[in-house]
Amino acid sequence: MTSFNAALVRADTPQLTRVINGYPITYLDSGATSLPPRAVIEAMSRHYELHHANVHRSVFQTASEATEAYEGARLAIAKFINAPGGAEEIVFTKNCTESFNLLARSWGRVNLKQGDVVLLSEMEHHANIVPWFQLRDMLGFEVRFIPVTDDFRLDLSNIDELMKGVKLLSVTGMSNVLGTINPIKELSAIAHKHGALIAVDAAQSVAHSVTDVKDLDVDFMCFSAHKMLGPTGIGIFWTRKEILRDMPPFLGGGGMIADVSVDGYTPANGPTRFEAGTPPIAEAAGLGAAVTYLTGLGMANIAQHEHDLTGDALTRLELEFSGRIRVIGPRDMTNRGGVISIDVDGVHPHDVAQMLDQFGVCVRPGHHCAKPLMKRFGLNATARISYGPYSLVRDTDMLLEALHSAIGMFG
Ligand code: ALA
Repeated sequence: MTSFNAALVRADTPQLTRVINGYPITYLDSGATSLPPRAVIEAMSRHYELHHANVHRSVFQTASEATEAYEGARLAIAKFINAPGGAEEIVFTKNCTESFNLLARSWGRVNLKQGDVVLLSEMEHHANIVPWFQLRDMLGFEVRFIPVTDDFRLDLSNIDELMKGVKLLSVTGMSNVLGTINPIKELSAIAHKHGALIAVDAAQSVAHSVTDVKDLDVDFMCFSAHKMLGPTGIGIFWTRKEILRDMPPFLGGGGMIADVSVDGYTPANGPTRFEAGTPPIAEAAGLGAAVTYLTGLGMANIAQHEHDLTGDALTRLELEFSGRIRVIGPRDMTNRGGVISIDVDGVHPHDVAQMLDQFGVCVRPGHHCAKPLMKRFGLNATARISYGPYSLVRDTDMLLEALHSAIGMFG
């Protein structure tokens, strides 16, 4: 049984009580990072107050408690994304970017060679581009891109041609700039038909919709805790255990070995093989609490709530700012999430964001680590609005009011 009431989520989120420049905060930057509820903050404080010890190694009571929290978070994430092999398939990293680096430097390094292709899309975040370029420069394979249509969707009209030679298709579940939700199930069928594997960047989608890796039939998934009401400093890498088993270690050191001698080392089995050094333990405790909290709200409820907010905002932006503000993203709400990038005619996105800040409205200006996409649409930057489960229509009201004032000032 789940219940959802955005006003209650808001009441659970301490940072939303802030007053900025004399206005109650209007937080519209959940795409960059989400605001943790009290339950997450308290889980981390409780960890440091009562259970702080290193994991896996010590046998005393508090060390067992810390290990329990850490491994509990692994299990919670496995259930949250419906990992078929359970917790054994979940690796904790530093963030989504490190998860992609793990994918490239471990799986990619031993499975890709000259003549192979990694297929990305023009709407990828740099986290799902740069690690592939870095590896390409070492191994000599090709990195290819699925183009984006003028209406901000993946152009799959030539996909069978694009798939030639592809070993890995790696795409975002939802664009952090456009809000476009990609047809992952369809893409996974295409990838597998061509004998390729598929990786999904779920950074923007995992906190805003139901994620089921089994149903999607994907092979890898990367995301981070701080975009799902959890803390910074912990990311997630998932793959099926038969793939994970054959992946070589990426970072070396303590915690990831079965044995070490003066002659060499033997890596550990399972996810700890990829978790060298002391891992983010308090962060895992926070992540576990975030998963419990999100599950309690119900991911389908969150998706519906953000869908309604976004549809309403798009309609009002069109009605009130037609000709002055261009939305860089789909206008129709089919397969579209709660991210709205705008281009205000004649005003630089940084100036827009700075003006909005005068009203306590937080939006993100910039290229959003998606420069190929910016180039595709002839832009250097956008101002981006992004919703979370605590967002309310009154956030959109304040945004629009502030936009009117900002535009009024720039003329
Ligand atoms: N990747 C994050 C964003 O899109 C930081 O804002």
